Amino acid sequence: MAVTKVVIPAAGLGTRFLPQTKVIPKEMVPLGNKPAIQYIIEEALEAGIHDFSIIANKDKQALFDHFAPYPDLEKRLAEKGKLHLLDSVKRIHENSTIRAIEQLEPLGLGHAVLQAQQVIGDEAFGVILPDDIMLSAVPAIGQLIAIADTYNASVIAVCEVPQEKLSSYGVIAIKEQLAPSLFQLSDLVEKPLPENAPSHFGIIGRYVLSPKIFAALQKTTPGAGGEIQLTDAIKYMMHHYDEKVLALKVSGTRYDVGNPKDWLAALNAIMK
Ligand code: G1P
Repeated sequence: MAVTKVVIPAAGLGTRFLPQTKVIPKEMVPLGNKPAIQYIIEEALEAGIHDFSIIANKDKQALFDHFAPYPDLEKRLAEKGKLHLLDSVKRIHENSTIRAIEQLEPLGLGHAVLQAQQVIGDEAFGVILPDDIMLSAVPAIGQLIAIADTYNASVIAVCEVPQEKLSSYGVIAIKEQLAPSLFQLSDLVEKPLPENAPSHFGIIGRYVLSPKIFAALQKTTPGAGGEIQLTDAIKYMMHHYDEKVLALKVSGTRYDVGNPKDWLAALNAIMK
């Protein structure tokens, strides 16, 4: 499964970070001298991905402005010989395509991913949720791509979650353990009641998916929270299209930077 494209659903309102996110999109909240979204793009670039589709509504223009060329600034930095800074502002736009795809209505994560169908076509692709910053030696999405390639399967990232917090996650049910950190799935449940959770592994925001997911998403009706859930479509794809779905306990530390406490922990880890 060669993966060359990543989809970044960035349509969320950032309610956990209001009022900071009233005007500035949550993906633009700074972590040191870079906005959160830049960590996501850099993780994927390091894994060899150069094609990005960001799914967003009209209020997120700042995301695209941030990665656009700024000829005046670049000229001034070049004239002053500030080559390190020059590199920092142009490295991403020179090495990647960052495409905006509009999600007209906030109908859920699954619906956001479905908006990328035309751009992705018939290839396996990555999905990265921008709230989940992963700090790791090997880029998290690269860890998933390697497994997808070896097993010719869709792969989702998971981590162990305390019982009382499982209801904030998609939770996997395990069919078989294939390696110490790798599982084949038998089922997935989005935001179960803790007592109904089929394991203690929650999905975190990295996926490598077969393009069959688009047909599954078209069949997916609103689920948890009244939204069209990606988790439900993955389950559909596994059960109806015979797609093998694996879960990898990725190495690294995950920070949910959509909430201020975790954001501070991420900032501390980055600035160390
Ligand atoms: C989404 C997914 C969920 C996953 C979580 C990880 O939920 O639907 O399966 O566990 O991201 O961050 P959200 O946090 O957007 O409600």
